[in-house]
Amino acid sequence: MKKRLCSLLFLVWMPVVTQAANIYAGKMQAQAVCSQCHGIRKPSADAPFPSLAGRDREYLDQALRQYQDKFRVSEIMNAIAGSLSAKDIDNITAYYARLKP
Ligand code: HEC
Repeated sequence: MKKRLCSLLFLVWMPVVTQAANIYAGKMQAQAVCSQCHGIRKPSADAPFPSLAGRDREYLDQALRQYQDKFRVSEIMNAIAGSLSAKDIDNITAYYARLKP
């Protein structure tokens, strides 16, 4: 009985878990794209790019959406944020926010 209850709980929880941000996917995108300018923990050498590691997730999320809407203007970031899906933003901000700077 206990075992059945456990597997039932597992089945109920699965969709919840798979819908949460995928930090691994966020890490892959951050490493492939964002790190070229922002670095992962530290900004890339001699570049004026803001560091993203350990920043407030809400803030990163909002900044990316503002770039998408061109409410915040930056030629580079308008193009990059424009290519991200809502899910990508979710994954990437979850990854960066939990990093220690
Ligand atoms: C080609 C270089 C480049 C790449 C690649 C890049 N960025 Fe940026 N990013 C910038 C620059 C330059 C700024 C500052 C723009 C401004 O003045 O608003 C910036 C700003 C930001 C900000 C705002 C930070 C703040 O302190 O307000 C966020 C968030 C951000 N980028 C996220 C990302 C993410 C996520 C990725 C990867 C998907 C990424 N960037 C890839 C150059 C880049």
